[in-house]
Formats: sequence, structure tokens, C-alpha cells
Amino acid sequence: MHVFSSLRESWWIGEVEVPTRVVLAPMAGVSVQAFRRQGRRFGAGLVCSEMVSCAGIEHRNERTLGYLRVSSDEHPLAIQIFGSEPRAMAEAARMVEAAGADIVDMNFGCPVRKVTKTGAGANLLEDASLAYRITEAVASAVSVPVTVKMRRGVEDGSRSCLDLGPRLVEAGAAALTLHPRSAKQMYTGWADHSLTAELVSLVDVPVIASGDITSRAKAEAVLAATGAAAVMVGRGAQGNPWALAEILDGEPVQPSREEVAAELIHFIRETVRELGEQRANGFLKKFYGWYLGHGRFPKPFKQELVQLRTTEEVVTRLLAAAPGAAEILERLETDVPESEFLLEGMPISIYGGG
Ligand SMILES: Cc1cc2nc3c(=O)[nH]c(=O)nc-3n(C[C@H](O)[C@H](O)[C@H](O)COP(=O)(O)O)c2cc1C
Repeated sequence: MHVFSSLRESWWIGEVEVPTRVVLAPMAGVSVQAFRRQGRRFGAGLVCSEMVSCAGIEHRNERTLGYLRVSSDEHPLAIQIFGSEPRAMAEAARMVEAAGADIVDMNFGCPVRKVTKTGAGANLLEDASLAYRITEAVASAVSVPVTVKMRRGVEDGSRSCLDLGPRLVEAGAAALTLHPRSAKQMYTGWADHSLTAELVSLVDVPVIASGDITSRAKAEAVLAATGAAAVMVGRGAQGNPWALAEILDGEPVQPSREEVAAELIHFIRETVRELGEQRANGFLKKFYGWYLGHGRFPKPFKQELVQLRTTEEVVTRLLAAAPGAAEILERLETDVPESEFLLEGMPISIYGGG
């Protein structure tokens, strides 16, 4: 089994070169463009959008189309779609490719009822024939690589992913990600990476290991035990991009208060540009706790930020608490490229947030 000398070794998904062995997880309500760009800056070799509804794309839903904004500094980027209808998924995949994504990823793992009751997400783990047809339709609709992200199955103890994985590769999947929890499990218990090892032995495409990768030691252990091509980091990177650098290089990273405040302010400003003040204001509140935790700031400070009315007030308060952040922020804010929006004929307001 191949053990890497460095997690900064590149690898390939089809014809897309991925510069490092750490992938930033798709997370609904988290993986906005600012999160993905930050992930790339801290060393993630591949970043992914949150799951985007193929029905929303089909109906040209304004908010859904907003998810298809790609910035020049986030490549390689996967945009993840979900749905249960092969033709609509193929059409959505074409839009995703046209939007500038390097990879079309498909969600065959979401355990949330709103998604599974439509036949999508984790439901596809138990409907191999439909999962096959969707993968085949999507892979033949686009020229970029198509990948699939799975859970182990719906029920606890299920091994469905091991039957399904090889069939999806046959249908055209260029890589598979496995989060080896059942859909029933949601986020309880542990990800059982012995299934990841089995999946690796069954397919000849790269497998990405997702679930509970929060440290360098865990990443090394999972890579060595499974033969996976890369690890994916989700919750461990929420408000903590430093975890990505630590996992990559094996050196503990303890950001100063000033660095934390600067990174958070930058993230706030980028998100406001992306979502507009009103949406960003609500969206960002969970991030305050994530950034300021880890013993970085006293607890009441987070409570104070959450109660402020505007993001500008939050920025002012952060700068007052960590004045040295201003200088770091200045460096972060130079060279930020404008977002590109490649799809033509879309409503102008999707540029929302200025
Ligand atoms: C808030 C949240 C939202 C998520 N949204 C998605 C999603 O949109 N698509 C997806 O494939 N997985 C999603 N996931 C699952 C993650 O990508 C990942 O597989 C899972 O969290 C396990 O990895 P972790 O232990 O590193 O967090 C989500 C997870 C969380 C915590």
C-alpha cells in the first residue's frame, strides 16, 4: 500500500490535478465561496460547494444559481448537485460545467428527510439501478470528471456502499468519497474506515476518506489503514482553517488572537459581498463561536458578537478586541480577485451583495 512521504503530494481525478491530499468537505450552510477560498489558501487541494438542488437549477431559482458562482482562486473546485432524476441531473451537470467547475460531484449520502423523500441523497444508496442511471447520464453529459459522495448505507451496519461503489465506477465515476456512517446514524458514533479500506480494494479510481479527520495523526492513520488517495476535512475546519495546515504539514499551528480576528473579519466581509448583509448576518452567527472557541477568546465575547445587529458592528468590536488584526487584514485583503460569473443570461441580481 502506498504511504505518502508528504500530504503535499499531488494526485489526479481524471484529468484534474489535485495539488494536496487534503480535501475540504462540502457542507450545506457552510461551504460558501469565502469558505472554499480560505480552504485553498490554507492548503486544501480540492474544495467543494455545498449540495445544490438540480431542481433549483432546472427552474433557474435565483438563490440556487448563486451557488454556481466560481472565483478564479478556488480551482480546483467541485460543485456538488443532488437530485433523483437522470435527465435533470445531466442538465444540472451541464450548467455546473458551464459555470466553471472542474469536477461535478453528486450527493448520494445526504440523510436529511427533506432530501431522501424525493429519492435523492442517501436514498440512492439503496437504489443501485437509479444511482447507476444517474451516474451514467451525468458522466456522458459533461467532459469534466464526475465524482460521487456516499455514506455506507441507510441502516446501521449497512455495507451498501461496497456493492454500489464499483457499479458507479462502471457507470463513469472518476472518484468516490466515502463517509462511512449510515444515514440513520447522522453524526453519532464514529466513521468506520474499515469500509473505506474495503472500498479502496474494490475500485481502481481514487477514494477520498471522509469522517472524523480532525488531526494529523488521524489523517495519517486513516490514509495508512485504507489506501485512500486523500482525506476530507469537514467539521474540523469550521472556523478553524489552521487545522488544514496542521493536517498537511504535521506542525501544530496556534494562531494568535490577532490572526483569528483578521481571518474572521476577512471571512465576514467576503461573505457579505457574496450573500448581501441580510443573509450574511444570520449565516455568520454560527461562525463566531467556531472561530472564537478553542480557548481563543473568552466565552462571553462570543455571546456579545452574536447579539450585535450588523456585521459592521461585529467587525468594529473584533478590531477593538484585537487591534493588531488590522495589519494582518490589510495583507489578506490585497489581491482578492473578483468573483467570476460565467453563466450568461442569468438574472443580474445573483451578483447580490455587491
Ligand atoms: C453542517 C454540515 C453540512 C453538510 N452538508 C453536506 C453536503 O451538502 N453535501 C455532502 O456531501 N456532505 C455534507 N456534509 C457531510 C460532510 O461533507 C462530511 O462527509 C461529514 O461531516 C463527515 O466529515 P467530518 O467528520 O470531517 O465532519 C455536511 C456535514 C455537516 C456537518
